[in-house]
Amino acid sequence: MTSVLGDDFISIVDEIERNRNISKEQLSQLLDGHEAEELRQRAVFVREKIYGKNVYIRGLIEFTNYCKNNCYYCGIRRNNKNIARYRINEAGILACCAEGYRLGFRTFVLQGGEDEYFTDERLCRLIGSIKAGFSDCALTLSIGEKNRESYEAYFQAGADRYLLRHETADDDHYRRLHPAELSLTNRKECLQNLKDIGYQVGAGFMVGSPGQSVDTIYEDLQFLRELQPHMVGIGPFIPQHDTPLAQETAGTCNMTVTLLSIIRLLLPHVLLPATTALGTIDPTGREKGLLAGANVVMPNLSPRDVRGKYALYDKKICTGEEAAECIACLKKRVENIGYSIVCDRGDYK
Ligand code: 5AD
Ligand code: FES
Repeated sequence: MTSVLGDDFISIVDEIERNRNISKEQLSQLLDGHEAEELRQRAVFVREKIYGKNVYIRGLIEFTNYCKNNCYYCGIRRNNKNIARYRINEAGILACCAEGYRLGFRTFVLQGGEDEYFTDERLCRLIGSIKAGFSDCALTLSIGEKNRESYEAYFQAGADRYLLRHETADDDHYRRLHPAELSLTNRKECLQNLKDIGYQVGAGFMVGSPGQSVDTIYEDLQFLRELQPHMVGIGPFIPQHDTPLAQETAGTCNMTVTLLSIIRLLLPHVLLPATTALGTIDPTGREKGLLAGANVVMPNLSPRDVRGKYALYDKKICTGEEAAECIACLKKRVENIGYSIVCDRGDYK
């Protein structure tokens, strides 16, 4: 006779995989962690069936840390007077792309705070220059909430993908993490607009943020099921010392990894990064993420002199390395766990 616990477990995971849905009770059981290993194996199986052992790389260019917003968790919030602000100009950004291209990157991610210096006109010119110089590359934007017309203009200019984490799909929780001037309604509308325009879209949330519960995570997962994004970015919340949430506890590697596996079962084809925050909370966090269903890593291509200044959270890794060192290190880490980095655009399958 097989163990009752084992049988129960198989049926939960089977059910989640078959229905591509999860109940609050099932979520709660999986977050308990007892079935972590079986869940992990199933997520890896699903991931390998679709993407094999390939790991896609995205070159992250953190081009401005100016931000007009004041999110309670984020180190580049406008009220933080203790960080040195910077912007990389167009020539500097193109130089990052050229170095990235040489190193094998075929996707660039322009990420920044909501910086009004970068008007739509400047952004469209920048997007045009990148796509003209690197026509076989995908360009991803991660520059926050804009109106529909702006999103359309960037898309016309050549942007392919857009990352905008929803942060939490629960209204009260959203208000606990953001000042009143920001709303979940607007966030969701932005994501819908992006999808309607034709971008490959990424949503996501922090794991273990203050006020998060099984209920709010359940809502996050239901929101992801409805939106059907091409990418989902999740990473542990890590307190930043100059923010209102400085004294809160960080999210854990285990819980992040469990959620990566669950997301892989709910959205089998999703592009799922093992994030820098996961590598920060645990020295082998990114490897653990890849071994739980993640299939993307996003090394930093920003110039070394600005890296420490893009301080969303404390103790961020990879701030001292050159891009080439970072990718060499990551390549070795990925190969050590039996996967391999591929140098193509890595589009959604
Ligand atoms: N800890 C972890 N992740 C953070 N982010 C912002 N601040 C923090 C923090 N303190 C994440 C947010 C944002 C992404 C760019 O970085 O989810 O969407
Ligand atoms: Fe950046 Fe290892 S991945 S130094």
